[in-house]
Amino acid sequence: MRLDKYLSYALNVSRRDSRQIIRLGRVKVNGFTTIKTDFYIDEYQDEIFFDGNQLEYHEFIYLMINKPKGYITATRDLELPTILDLIKDYKKYNLFMAGRLDIDTEGFVLLTNDGNFAYNITKPQSKCEKKYYLETEEQFSLEDERLCREGLMIRDGKGRLIKTKPARLEIIESNKAYLTIYEGKYHQIKQMCRILGKKLKYLKRIKIGPIDLDSGLKPGEYRLLTTEEVNKLKN
Ligand code: URA
Repeated sequence: MRLDKYLSYALNVSRRDSRQIIRLGRVKVNGFTTIKTDFYIDEYQDEIFFDGNQLEYHEFIYLMINKPKGYITATRDLELPTILDLIKDYKKYNLFMAGRLDIDTEGFVLLTNDGNFAYNITKPQSKCEKKYYLETEEQFSLEDERLCREGLMIRDGKGRLIKTKPARLEIIESNKAYLTIYEGKYHQIKQMCRILGKKLKYLKRIKIGPIDLDSGLKPGEYRLLTTEEVNKLKN
């Protein structure tokens, strides 16, 4: 890989800035300063230092974003803003989403350029848990908890009737609850609420697998997953 390309990924700066950094003599390759921006390096073997600090090469990146309402989880749309519009500084990574949320849902979306990782989380057999916080017009009852546990008849994306897998409803107070599902059917939470006779006022995804949405992230904010979080999700 060219040194300027490597640096722009490793420091997450533009190619223009990375060339400038190299020309200023701030980069060493295997102990030698180079000002050649098109110098070819082996990103897996060579030791690259920037201002005395060794850089690490990551082929894949993993981001958690707190999706705000009004954004769609798609890579592009002609009319509506997409969550990629919120993460312009990672544009060069060609990120895509490991799972979707509706335009009016808030919360945790995972973005990555690691296709296998995304597939393993979203594939139908994955059973990866997703936890939602919801508020409804009507009150929840213990009967609702039982119905969720036993499974509800909803429609899949093709209009066919299907039964949901056992889901966990935890009532927080009258019309506020957590609902954890282990699959991802078409508008699943909305359909489940409709079957329970509840009008959904607010929906937010707060957990994917073992990872909670970082409570420090305001709607529209994002951060890289830690290595520990990525490993937990992979397991
Ligand atoms: N279920 C829904 O109905 N909507 C979402 O955005 C996520 C899960």
